[in-house]
Order: sequence, then structure tokens, then C-alpha cells
Amino acid sequence: MAVTTHDWTVVDEGWGRRAVDFATLSEPSNCREYVAIHHRLGVDDGDRVLDVACGSGLALELAALRGATCAGIDASARLVAVARDRNPDADVRVGDMHALPWTDGSFDVVTSFRGVWGTTPHALAEVHRVLAPGGRVGITVWGHIKVSPGAWALAPFRLAEEPAVANQAAMVRLGRPGAGEELLASHGFTDVRRVSPRFAWEFADPQAYARALAFTGPAYEAIRAVGEEAFHDAAVRTAERVVRDGLPLRAEIDLVGYLARTPA
Ligand SMILES: C[S@@+](CC[C@H](N)C(=O)[O-])C[C@H]1O[C@@H](n2cnc3c(N)ncnc32)[C@H](O)[C@@H]1O
Repeated sequence: MAVTTHDWTVVDEGWGRRAVDFATLSEPSNCREYVAIHHRLGVDDGDRVLDVACGSGLALELAALRGATCAGIDASARLVAVARDRNPDADVRVGDMHALPWTDGSFDVVTSFRGVWGTTPHALAEVHRVLAPGGRVGITVWGHIKVSPGAWALAPFRLAEEPAVANQAAMVRLGRPGAGEELLASHGFTDVRRVSPRFAWEFADPQAYARALAFTGPAYEAIRAVGEEAFHDAAVRTAERVVRDGLPLRAEIDLVGYLARTPA
């Protein structure tokens, strides 16, 4: 049975309000993670791939380049509009990851890039249901943020009110040693493996970083607490400390990938 743990219909308020900024200023940096997970999962010609919490659809576009037939779902209607524009042949829907609108066994591969978290574990029951027997799953979450060289890039999110910051901490718990392995196994997945795909955000300068960061859901929570201008100023000041002469701002953040299968 699908279990919804949060109100997905309000997600677009935060994630969708600057969908074009997200798609063009930030999402391209995620390509390292998409390529690594697609490669590990062996995404290839004829695979039916679903990307859960697909955002603006760059991962779908890259899966299609490998020959896959693609579908995606995201709670943000404005991000889905970009994903559809990029992937006119894909079946991209607005909806909740806890109630996937596809029948059992519809896909060979399901991915979710920083879409399923410790606060949304039941989405994995739906992922399992829509995968064919022997289907492959790959999900990513933040790993050990504090030891990441690029931890500074997530710091402005902590300007949010305490309950929101606590929720962010609960989300990333899925990256702790053993957490994802246990959760996937408890949902009936086998051959669970932990991998470390590379994740690096790059920005031209502190202003570009601040603009790109402001589109995200956690930034929206911070902006509601301190206001748009204070958030922007804090982000710029944070990035000014890590500017390197002649090089882009680069934030390498520890990322955990979990790969698994449904029983054949
Ligand atoms: C961290 S972003 C990741 C987006 C994309 N996978 C990427 O790699 O950039 C989280 C995404 O989850 C989506 N989301 C949040 N709650 C959701 C839900 N219940 N069902 C579907 N999508 C959801 C948001 O709209 C947002 O696009």
C-alpha cells in the first residue's frame, strides 16, 4: 500500500518557483552523478527507465542517449514542464513518488537522484512494485556532508527555522553507513551495494552560486525564515571565502549511491 509522509502538492512552491534557473544553472553539474549511476546500472538500448523525482529531466535525457525508453515523475509541475521540453518522447508526469501512476513491473530500471530520502522511505515500496523481476534500482543521497570539501555550498540552508533544519538532517540520515542497505533489504531488494559517485557543483562566481542555490527546496525554507536578500547576501559571503584565481567555484560533496535488484 502506498504511504504518503508529506504533502507533495506544496513541493512546487519551493522547487518550481525558479525552474529555469535550476535547469540551466545547477542541474548540469549533476551530470557526473547521472553518468556514473547509469553506467553502474548498465542502462542500455531498450531498457525501460523510470526516474523518480526527475526534476527538470537532464538524467532522463542522458538515459535516452544510451538508448533507453524513458519515464519520469516529479511533484513540481514547473520542473516537469522543463523535463517534457527536454524529453518530448518520454512519459513525464506530475505526481507523488509514494503513488507511482504505472502498473506493476513496468520498468527494467528505476533511478532517483537525491529524490528518495530518509524522510520518504516508503517510496521504495512503489519503486519495487513498478520494477520487473530482476529489475535494477539506483538511488543517491548525500553522504558525510561535514567532511566534504564543498560542505560550504550547503551551509546557507541552515538559515531555515529549526524544524526545517531538523528535517534536512533526517533526510540525509539515509546516507549513513548501513542505513540504505537496511532500508532497501527491508523492501525486498537484493544484491544491495553502496557506491561513491562523484558529485561536484561548479559556479562561475559567488553571485552565480547564490542565484543557483536560491531555487532549491531547502533554500526556499531559509528564504522564508530570513528573506530573499539576506539569503542571497549570506550565500555570496560564504562563496567569497572559497574563490580561486582563474578557476571555477567548485563544491565537491560526498554522495552515496545505492544499487540493488528486485529478485529475478
Ligand atoms: C534534490 S531535488 C532532485 C531533483 C533531480 N533528481 C536532480 O537530480 O536534480 C528533489 C526533487 O524531488 C521532488 N520531490 C519532492 N517530493 C516529491 C514527491 N513526494 N514526489 C515526487 N517528487 C518529489 C522535487 O520537486 C525535486 O525536484
